[in-house]
This record gives sequence, structure tokens and C-alpha cells, in this order.
Amino acid sequence: MCGIAGYVGPRKAVEVVYDQLKRLEYRGYDSAGIAFLEEGNISVLKRAGKLSVLGEVVDANPDDSHMAIAHSRWATHGAPTDLNAHPHMDQYEQIALIHNGIIENYLELKDELAHDGHDHQFFSETDTEVAAHIIGEEYATGVSLEVAVRQAVKRFRGAYSMVVISKREPGKIVAARSASPLVIGIGVGENMLASDIPALLPYTREMMILDDDQVAILTPEGITITDLNGKEVPYEIMHIDWDIAAAEKGGYDHFMLKEIHEQPEVMSRVLAGRIDEKGQVRLDNVYGEHVWNEIDRVSIIACGTSYNAGLMGKYLFEKLLRLPTDVYYASEFRYGDPILSSRSLCIFISQSGETADSLAALKLCKSQRMRTLGIVNVVGSSIARECDRTILTQAGPEISVASTKAYTAQVLSLIMLVLHIAQIKETPGVRSEQVVRSLRNLPGIAQRVFELEDQVKAVVQTCKDANLFFFLGRGADAYVSLEGALKMKEIAYVPTQEIPAGEMKHGPLALITDGVFAIFGATEEHLRDKVISNIKEVQARGGYVVAITTEEDTSLEKAADATLKIPRTGQTYLDALLSNIVLQLLAYYFAVARGCEIDQPRNLAKSVTVE
Ligand code: M6R
Repeated sequence: MCGIAGYVGPRKAVEVVYDQLKRLEYRGYDSAGIAFLEEGNISVLKRAGKLSVLGEVVDANPDDSHMAIAHSRWATHGAPTDLNAHPHMDQYEQIALIHNGIIENYLELKDELAHDGHDHQFFSETDTEVAAHIIGEEYATGVSLEVAVRQAVKRFRGAYSMVVISKREPGKIVAARSASPLVIGIGVGENMLASDIPALLPYTREMMILDDDQVAILTPEGITITDLNGKEVPYEIMHIDWDIAAAEKGGYDHFMLKEIHEQPEVMSRVLAGRIDEKGQVRLDNVYGEHVWNEIDRVSIIACGTSYNAGLMGKYLFEKLLRLPTDVYYASEFRYGDPILSSRSLCIFISQSGETADSLAALKLCKSQRMRTLGIVNVVGSSIARECDRTILTQAGPEISVASTKAYTAQVLSLIMLVLHIAQIKETPGVRSEQVVRSLRNLPGIAQRVFELEDQVKAVVQTCKDANLFFFLGRGADAYVSLEGALKMKEIAYVPTQEIPAGEMKHGPLALITDGVFAIFGATEEHLRDKVISNIKEVQARGGYVVAITTEEDTSLEKAADATLKIPRTGQTYLDALLSNIVLQLLAYYFAVARGCEIDQPRNLAKSVTVE
């Protein structure tokens, strides 16, 4: 998704913002640009394609500016071309604007501009250029840049963050936010901003997050935050102690592989401090006993991998707590007239905490006074802040677009929540000594999954020419299969068919021919006989079967063409979590074998902040 960077201070500003953009590359983009002040004029450099293409142009220009803004664009209005890339200038060439999100009423505004008596020439198809012209008209009345921005944003509808510089006011950056993230970095004699924290980490650890309907004015000497009426508002500075190394590849070929390998450590972090020496589960910042006794239905709302984690939540809530649970795609939720009652709990799962569809669904629930609980990875993100209660998933920054460790942290957080509720409600058998032991041993057992890496690579050699994969399972394995298939699609660009194994005979079995590969999850012992029958159905039609089972099992070995055996955790829902790590490795090595770009798959973005 789009990235924003900005800097004002004594350093070489173009160099700084280019570096900041590079640190945002993981968000996905298709063009990039920079605007800076040069001899009293604004220079704009922008190019379609990778940042390195822009880098060549930047290198050819002298860098003696002390104020610059930069943007990486993920096309929404208009194709990814040089002209559509940001920054955009106003009609008087006084200001340059970069922008994330969408101005929903831009056509209406463009029409207003067409009738304002001034000559508006547009060089791009973007909503951003229209916004630049609107700000330009306000600015032309002689007001300061911040006043022009405040006046203009009152006319914009949509979710966006925007940053503006002016040639009339060197040394000043003005930014505004409406439901799209913007972080301000506070330095000494310099200040900066970005759409995401990692971009600022090498420059400062002191940051503040701009709120909706606020405007920030940055100069080298300081920061002022106002509301849309110009009233100064106080702000809180957060100290961010993330390790920069944690945001780098750490010796792995790709962030994705690094993040897959981080999962045992992530598990330890999720569990740390949440199970005391007596085996009691301690979850801070969730509801108290009276609320849990009142709740009779759970609605989980999320997108993509977080949605798949939500399905595991359904499995856990229903199986362990007997609490009816629906899982909704956030993108469908607000248009689907969902049935909610005052006794429902709405759980929002999101790695980034900024997914526009999830945020919109959350706002709908809040408008209906529903109870909202977030399961979110990014501290201070919109979803984390908007939910009544939040469980932070502690996965650390996830850079690869394909989500891996975040899923594990989300599912484990759901498990902790279920155990917490069971403890409060005294639900028999859920939080037992055996369960606590399994959880405590989990990170160590998960580490052993990586002993399978060579076997996974061997399986990949067998199937590297496959052009269709089935992902099949029953029980928890069926839910995990959906996530395995999503990973395969995202990074290896191979079509997949994912469905509970028992459903095959009702249609998808027709797709099985020679050369089709089927990955079966079969970690649940009591379902194995059924799974074996499904395996036979596939093999009888020429399909090649890879089964993921647990290490004590011998039945699958006899039935499948290849078997990958994970260590046992003692709990079926935890076994399923480990089998997902195998699926992640399978997708990763398969994509590597096919020469795919792993960390930034085509057409995808890390944080989807548009609807
Ligand atoms: O940040 P979120 O968890 O809200 O993001 C939701 C999806 O966009 C995300 O999980 C996406 O599906 C990933 N690319 C999956 O790997």
C-alpha cells in the first residue's frame, strides 16, 4: 500500500526521504516520487516501477535541500505511470502534495474546479491532483499553508492522510489525517513523518500518532498539532523501542522465511506473563466476569489471513466454550446487514490494525454500541485504538506481505482468550494442567518443526511443475488448509482449491487428474480414517497426495505418496498451528523454486488501507 515520508531539518532531505521510502518498500507499491525545495522552487521527481528506478533520477540531481516529501504509490485512480505517481502540484505550482487513501468526492470537487473561473489543467487521472488544486485555490487567497490545508480537508470526503509543502514557506511541512495512518517523528533540530513507524526508526525513537481530523505543522524547531479549526491540541509522545534489526532480514534470504522461523519466539512472547506459576491464565485489558457471563454470541470480523485466524477462533469458541461464533469477511460485513445483539461480542483481528474494510466494520459496530475487542499486532494502530478492549498479538513487525507469524500470534491469542474465559466461567476441562503444560512446551516443540525443512524441499522438487494444488483437511485442519492455500496463491501464483476434504465428492473432485497435487492436513487422530478415504478418492483419479500428520501416526504414511510428520503438542488445536508452519514452508520453497518474488508479491500490499 502507499507509503509516505517527509523530512525537515539540517540533513540532506532527499537522501533521508528516499531512505525512509526504502524502509516502507515492504508495504507494496507500483510507482514513487519525491518533491523538494531547490533554489526557491519545488522540484518533483517521479517514476513508475521500483524505487531503484526513481533512485537513478535522484542520484542524477544535486541534494542540497533541507525539506522533502516522498511517496510510494499503489494505484487506485489511474494506472501506475510516471504522471499518476505522487507528488502532485497545484495549478499555480506553489505547493506539492502526497497522499494515501482515497478522496471519495474528487469528481464532485473536480467539477467545482471546472466552474471556479480559473484555468485548471490536470496531468494525471488521480484524486490527489484534484486535492492539490483545491488546496492551491485556498492557498491562493493568501492564507498560510496550514490554514489552506485545514480549509481544503473540510471539503474532502474519504479516508486519507496527506502531506504538503509550499515554495512560499520553506522549512514547513503540513500534514492532515482522516482514517489513514500518519506517524510524526520528533528529532532534535529536525522533524519528520511517515505512514509507518519502521521508516523513522533510524532517525528518532520519539514519535506521535496523528489522530483523525488533526493537522500537523512541522518545522525543524518543533511540531504543532491543531484540530480542523486551528485550535492547538495537546499530544502524547511515545518512545518506540523496536529493534531496527528486527525489521531487517537477519541472514535469511527473505523476510518471509525469517518471519516463519521467528514463530517459536513469537509463541514465547504471546505466552509470556500470561500463564502464571500456578497455571492461571492472565489476560490484561479484556472484559470482566459479568461481561463474559452476559455474552451469548461472538462475531469475528477480519480480512485475509486474519479472517483465517478468525475461523480457528470459531473452532475454539464453539468446541471449547460452546459459544456460537460467526466469522465475517470485513469487506462484506457492513453491506450484509449482520444480526448483532447487545449480548454479542465483536472481535476484530488485524495484523496492521489499519485495514480499511475492518476499520469500517468496526466503526459500524461502534455506532451500534456493540462491545468490540481487537486482536491487533501494531500498537497505536487505528483498530487498536478504536476497539473498547485490545489484545496485542506481540508478533513484532511483520515485513513480508504474506502474513505468517502474525497468524500464529493471532490464533495463540485467541487460544489465550478462550482459556481466560473458560477460567472465569469455570468451564470444565478447558484450562487443565495438561493444556498449560502443552502451552509451556509449545515454543520448544514448534522449533522442532524446522527439522522438516529438508523434507519440505524434497516434496517441492516433486511438485514444482504443478499447476493446481488442493488443500484439504477435516476439523481444525480444514481451517488451516485455507491459510495454506492463501499462502500458495499469494507468493507462488498457483491456483488452489481449498475445501473440507469430505466436500470433495460434491464437486471439486471433478478437477482431479494426473499431475494435480493434494496437500492433506491430518493432525486430528479421530478423523484420520475419514481422511484416508478422501486420500484414496484423490489417488484413484491420478492425484498425488502429500499428508501432514503427527509423528506417532503410521496410517497416513501407508496411504499418502509423501508424509510430513510434525511433533505432537498434546492438544489438537496446537497441532494444527504447527501444521500451518509446514504449509508456510511449503508455499515458501515452492515459490522460491518457481523464481517468484517472495516478500512483495505482485498486485498485493501489506496494509490494505483502501476499501
Ligand atoms: O493487517 P490485516 O491483518 O488486517 O490484513 C488483512 C489482510 O489484508 C492480510 O491478512 C492479507 O491477506 C495478507 N497478505 C495475507 O498474507
